[in-house]
Amino acid sequence: MELVMFTAMEGLAAQVEQFRDVAVLAPSRLDQVMRLLEGARAPEALYLDDTRAAPLPELWRVATQARRVGVRVLVNFTGAARGALNDAQGAGLPAIAERDPAAVAAWLGEQLGLRCGEGLGRGALVAVGAAKGGIGKTFATCVLAEGLRRRGLRVLVWDSDISNPGLVPAFRIPSSAPSYLHLIQRGPAHWGPGGIAPFIFQPDHTRATSEGWGAVDFLIGSHAVARAENDVRLPDWQSFYQGVAALEGYDLVLVDTPPDYLRRPYATHVLLAGGTVVLPCPPGARERMGVGHLLDHLRDHAPDGLDRCALLFMEPERGVIAGVGDVAAMFARRYPQVMSLGTLPRAPRLASLADEHDGYVSMLDLGPHSGFTAAVHRVGEQLCARLGLTPRLPVPRSSLWNRLGSRLRGDRAAAISSPAIA
Ligand SMILES: Nc1ncnc2c1ncn2[C@@H]1O[C@H](COP(=O)(O)OP(=O)(O)OP(=O)(O)O)[C@@H](O)[C@H]1O
Ligand SMILES: [Mg+2]
Repeated sequence: MELVMFTAMEGLAAQVEQFRDVAVLAPSRLDQVMRLLEGARAPEALYLDDTRAAPLPELWRVATQARRVGVRVLVNFTGAARGALNDAQGAGLPAIAERDPAAVAAWLGEQLGLRCGEGLGRGALVAVGAAKGGIGKTFATCVLAEGLRRRGLRVLVWDSDISNPGLVPAFRIPSSAPSYLHLIQRGPAHWGPGGIAPFIFQPDHTRATSEGWGAVDFLIGSHAVARAENDVRLPDWQSFYQGVAALEGYDLVLVDTPPDYLRRPYATHVLLAGGTVVLPCPPGARERMGVGHLLDHLRDHAPDGLDRCALLFMEPERGVIAGVGDVAAMFARRYPQVMSLGTLPRAPRLASLADEHDGYVSMLDLGPHSGFTAAVHRVGEQLCARLGLTPRLPVPRSSLWNRLGSRLRGDRAAAISSPAIA
């Protein structure tokens, strides 16, 4: 359909263009809009808002003319024309007062029955969230991405925790990798999937293999602790999200989110936009309180989304007296809609060997027959079932013999000599 948009709202037209089968014309003057309406082939719909500060009587004149020639009119009055909102609704026009371009785009899509671009399947955007630092978000993101890659899936990992980019050291991302923060600075017109694609980093060490594995690619924000001038405003993050959701070629996107969930409610946005939130949950008192805070926040702000939240229990560190069983039962009572993805065991030796290794190596390759790797695959299986994803490959085989051998001899991890610590 042809949609004429009269707006100065940053990035709005670009976002609407991401819907399928819609051609957007965005003239900057009302007389140009009028000419389009009077032309031989009028557009199907007209969106008007008051961000270009056109006088209200002029906006009305155009809206009236559009209706006269059978064009659907939709209005959004948030500024000077806000007082006319009731009149517009009274006249039978779909009308809102909304400043957020992502929300306006979603509303237009709904009103006009537009379908999303090919992009990712609904729900396949997964935020890994917590209301507390150090809970294992980045860790869970890394091992889940690697586990799903072994099932033949193509995973994009989006580092949204720019003030503490834990993914960069974890995956040994070189400083030459592009940063999407530069793209954010270029402005919303560049945040479509075509603009984002060149900023995706595809390291060789997480690409497809002869076994037919999938890939883990990255959208990296910063390489060091972020500087204040690189900060991303929430509306910008939300608009950028639209572009990421419209990317093609991935089975899912895993978003590593920062812990300041009130200032950066990324997990909330993912849920509101129809995605999924995974909450790593170690059972200690402070950690489970942090998980509870985020769940309460999500319940308040996206009540319909709670059944798209999933807890990922993490075995406690040695010495912690709270166990996963009791804590899981407590969460099941308090948040019955929230499902569990299972439990990840502690694997401090594998984690440390991976950290100290020269160059990137996945924990799943260091201990291919370990209980830890088996648990990662069980969790991945649950997550796929939750998302309606069908992995292309079966869980990598691990016979009883392998597992016994791994336990008796120690796996590959044990064969790697302790590194010299600089
Ligand atoms: N199952 C596990 N086995 C071994 N180590 C683990 C496990 N889970 C988490 N860790 C370790 O716990 C530490 C904290 O985890 P991580 O950095 O993933 O937390 P985070 O929630 O991303 O923190 P931040 O909010 O600071 O980004 C890391 O050193 C990680 O390796
Ligand atoms: Mg982290």
